[in-house]
Amino acid sequence: MSRIRRIGILTGGGDCPGLNAVIRAVAKSAFNLGWEVLGIHNGFEGLLRTRLVRKLKPENVRGILNMGGTILGANSRVNPFEVVCGKGTSMTIEDYSDEALANFKKLGLDAVIAIGGDGTLKIAQQFYEKGMPLVGVPKTIDNDLSATVMTFGYDTAVNTATDAIDKLHPTAESHRRAMVVEVMGRYAGWIALNSGVAGGADVILIPEIPFDIDVVCEKVRSRDREGAGFSIIVVAEGAKPTGGETLTKGPKEPGREARLGGIGDWVATEINARTGKETRALVLGHLQRGGYPTTFDRLLGTRFGAAAIRLIQNKKFGQMVCLIPPEIKSVPIKEAVSKMKLVPVTSDVIAAARALGICFGDGAKSKECV
Ligand code: F6P
Repeated sequence: MSRIRRIGILTGGGDCPGLNAVIRAVAKSAFNLGWEVLGIHNGFEGLLRTRLVRKLKPENVRGILNMGGTILGANSRVNPFEVVCGKGTSMTIEDYSDEALANFKKLGLDAVIAIGGDGTLKIAQQFYEKGMPLVGVPKTIDNDLSATVMTFGYDTAVNTATDAIDKLHPTAESHRRAMVVEVMGRYAGWIALNSGVAGGADVILIPEIPFDIDVVCEKVRSRDREGAGFSIIVVAEGAKPTGGETLTKGPKEPGREARLGGIGDWVATEINARTGKETRALVLGHLQRGGYPTTFDRLLGTRFGAAAIRLIQNKKFGQMVCLIPPEIKSVPIKEAVSKMKLVPVTSDVIAAARALGICFGDGAKSKECV
């Protein structure tokens, strides 16, 4: 391939703090090499509608390092390989990837940087296999991508959740209530576990450890007996009781992941019904995706952005940048999206939590839960 002159950049899937830091790092590094950067708006939808593609200028990336969201807009609906056409019974799923590839060529792009979670990166891999020179940058507050020790956005989300738990403590204690906080994370319990431990929760329920609601209730009762009088229960949206199903919201839309949620309310209702304890539930929801990215996320985003440019310079297409401390390395995107990174139940964080008496709702007999 000839010299790189023009690259495109897009952000797919849900937004997360640190995306703008990546965009800025990519743009500034590219400008310093004399490259042009086209911002492909609304994720892969921008490759289907070229009016959504705009040249990035230095002023577009000025002052965005500490901004949440993404200046390029995000999209978790449009997958050019599976475009949903029509509605109801006349709905069909069409493959528009040839059109997207033709637009890539028409725009004079030499490479694309796709920033996203596993959904976006799977589409990126399909385009790479179709001949598009492309590199990936992992992003998700869920921290569930196996090839990287950490994704940016996660640290900010954990801080937001910890802050919420801190704020719940005084009201829980004043009213002698059980407060249930549902946090995001999809099928991984990273946000719940780390914010729960850092926030001093009494019970943490994560998808990796199915729970028994009676064990949770016994923990609440035991705290009352000991004189604490209140309990903080952190529940990951993907947590489920032993033998139960993950709770979802609304109907599953074609081509989209199921929306998780509802377990916090269920746990709160059950605690109240079984113990008589006054209980309140709170869903942190999209607050966890907002706010200023933490120092860690800005730094990681900046390092990922600059490393993505190095991959393009070295023509290492089909690769995704990743954090293998202390370095930024790369792995084939295909490998990166093949396995979800779940919390190991042997994690030392879980061991530390159990040692402190935090209950995971498992094993009614286990000492830490009484
Ligand atoms: O993957 C990031 C995430 O925030 C999950 O934690 C959550 O389940 C999901 O996205 C929410 O998606 P949406 O913004 O489509 O409701």
